[in-house]
This record gives sequence, C-alpha cells and structure tokens, in this order.
Amino acid sequence: MTDTFPVFVTCLPGLEPFLLEELAGHHIAAETVPGGAEFEGSIETVMRACLWLGTASQVLIRLTQFRCRALGELERKAMELPWRDWLVGRVPLTLSSRSRRSRVYHTGGISERIYNAIGKTFGQAPMLAKDSEDVVANIVTRFNEDICTISIEATSTPLHRRGYRLDARKAPLREDIAHALVLASNWSTKGAMLDPFCGSGTIAIEAAGLAMGLAPGRLRPAAMQQTARFDIDSWQELCAETAPREPVGKIAASDRDKGAIAATRANAKRAGVQHVIDCQQHALAAQPWLEGRDVTEHGTLITNPPFGVRVSGNNNLIPLYQTLGHRMKALGDGWNTMILAHDMRLARRTALQLKPKFSTKHGGLAVTAMGSVTADENKSSSATDRES
Ligand SMILES: C[S@@+](CC[C@H](N)C(=O)[O-])C[C@H]1O[C@@H](n2cnc3c(N)ncnc32)[C@H](O)[C@@H]1O
Repeated sequence: MTDTFPVFVTCLPGLEPFLLEELAGHHIAAETVPGGAEFEGSIETVMRACLWLGTASQVLIRLTQFRCRALGELERKAMELPWRDWLVGRVPLTLSSRSRRSRVYHTGGISERIYNAIGKTFGQAPMLAKDSEDVVANIVTRFNEDICTISIEATSTPLHRRGYRLDARKAPLREDIAHALVLASNWSTKGAMLDPFCGSGTIAIEAAGLAMGLAPGRLRPAAMQQTARFDIDSWQELCAETAPREPVGKIAASDRDKGAIAATRANAKRAGVQHVIDCQQHALAAQPWLEGRDVTEHGTLITNPPFGVRVSGNNNLIPLYQTLGHRMKALGDGWNTMILAHDMRLARRTALQLKPKFSTKHGGLAVTAMGSVTADENKSSSATDRES
C-alpha cells in the first residue's frame, strides 16, 4: 500500500478559497485552515500539488507532531524520526523554527536541537545550506501551545517562484497573486484578456498558462528531488500528463514603458507563452482595444495599475483611474474588470461597479482584488434590497 502523510499547503492570507478550488480540481480532498489547506496524501499527490497549484506558497509534509515542554525532550523525540527515509546526506539543510505560546520559545535553540538529532542519526554533523544553493532540504519546526510539529518542505524554493520572471520591472506582482487575480476574474478563456499596465507581464503570463492548461510549476526543479523519497519516474509521468492547448481568446499586454515590454516578452518566452500574448508599448489612453479598435465583444481586463506608493510616488493618479473607468464602460457589458487596488479611493475613481473579491498582502501592502459584480451577485443584492 502507498504511504500517505499529513500535508499542509500554505498560501498568502486571503488566497485560501482559490487554493481549495485548485486542490479540488486535481481531486485532492482538502480542508481549508487559516493560511492554507490540509490533506492526507501520497508522495505522488504531493508532487502533483507542487506542479499544479498556482496559488500555493509551500507544500509541507508533516513528519511528526508531539507535546513538548523542554529542549532536551525535543531533541530526544526528534531523534525518533526516521530521518534517513527523508534526508539525503549530501543535500544541505535549512532549519526554520517558530514558537507561539509555548514553554519552548527560543527558536535558535529549537533549530540547534533538530540539527543535533539529525547529526546523531547520520553519525556526522549535517551540512547547512548557503544562500547560493539551489537544492536544499527545508526542515520546518513549529511550536504552538506546547505542540511541536516537524515538517519537511516538498520543494527547495517557494512555489510562486515559477522560474520565468528573470526580468523584473519595478513593483512586480507575485505570481501567486497574479494567478488568483485571473481565477477571481472569472475570465472565460474564450473571451479576450487585457493587462494595459503589464510591467514584467506576470498577469498575462499566468493567464496564458491557465488558458493553455500549463502547469504553474512546469519550469521549476522537480518536487521532492532534495529528499530520499524522490521518484523521478513519477515526476516525469506527472509532467507528461500536461496536454497544452491553444487559447481561444486573444491575450494582450501593454505598458507605456519600453523596458516593461522587453521584460514581458523575455519572461513570456521563458514561460513558453510568448506566441499567445500580443505585447506592445502603449500608454493607457492609446491602447488600441481601449480605444475601441479591433476589440472583441467579450473580454476581461485584469490588471495591477500603479498604486501611487512605489511606482509613481506622489503623482496624481486620479485621471489615470478615471480614464481606465471611462474606457472600460465604453467597451460595454461584454467586458469585465479586475483590478488590484491598494487605495480604495483610487479604485472608486474608475466609477465602475466593482466588488472586493479577495484581500491579501503584497510586499507588505494591504491589497484588494476589485472585480466586476457578476450577474449572480447582482441578483442576490437586488433580492436583499427587496427584502429590506
Ligand atoms: C504596478 S506596475 C505593474 C506590475 C506588473 N503587474 C508586474 O507583475 O510586473 C504598474 C505599471 O503601470 C505602468 N504605467 C504607469 N502609468 C501608465 C500609463 N499611463 N499607461 C500605461 N502604463 C502605465 C508602469 O510602467 C508599470 O509598469
């Protein structure tokens, strides 16, 4: 029988519903918990999650959980773990520890005890990873109200680092937030998609990947490769399951900045989606679709306009948001909008009927995805109005 393990998938706060939907889409029955989702799964399921989840940050396999109130007890109990089933001697380690409301609170001491336990199992001091190393085994120890949980991360680096965004412009959006924006926009991939503030191209590239049925983790190193449980055949089989299709709707990305266009094209090429993204340099006001030229009847604008914090400093962004709103209205009811907003006053300047779809943190800033009100949302709000 295949071994199964408790697995915890982490995501940015606010992305949990999308994560759960993605898991369900891959027939992984999970439960949402704050900051992620939990399920019981085999190594093959763990690898599938690493390959296919676009909104996840980390996949952690729980190795053990026990009550613990002293560092000596931690080392003793950690030595009972079958480390040789998980770790490969030549792969360097990172040890991350956290403690909340527990008698054992010194995180440096926790890491030291885990280090000792692994060293005693292997009969030699484990190698610790240097910053430059790509393949590392991350051991994560968490104390919460005296309950200690020790896990191993299924990948060496967080999942949002897809591997295509080597050219980054100012204030690039995290790939997992871009992925969630596309999912939350309800973009029917048969319609067109436009990002007129594309920067490094993250949103258009994530959208293209979704429309083509590409795995978000396709460019990443194999999951579990840093562990003793790595099974290259299963990984290759999983990767071979992908059957890319050509998207139906047109995808366009534009930006007023020449460097942004070069970055988007280079990133899209690395992601293998350059042929499906029409990427041109235009200021918002001169974007052909937004001027009503060559535009299809149905589409979705998904974008991360300048917030006025990092990109445009104190420039007055109100006219930019107003223009965006006018142009979207002119495109008619066949077009939906999804914008990532930091300052709600600016979002309101679009004068579009938008509703918060999710809120999260982006580089320390609180951001909210503001999307067009759907027909269902409209119906239920008019029903509520009638009742009150
Ligand atoms: C927050 S950044 C977008 C970041 C992007 N989502 C990414 O992942 O890299 C905003 C972008 O809007 C562009 N921009 C600002 N004003 C513009 C305008 N009037 N017309 C078109 N692009 C503009 C900037 O050049 C910048 O690349």
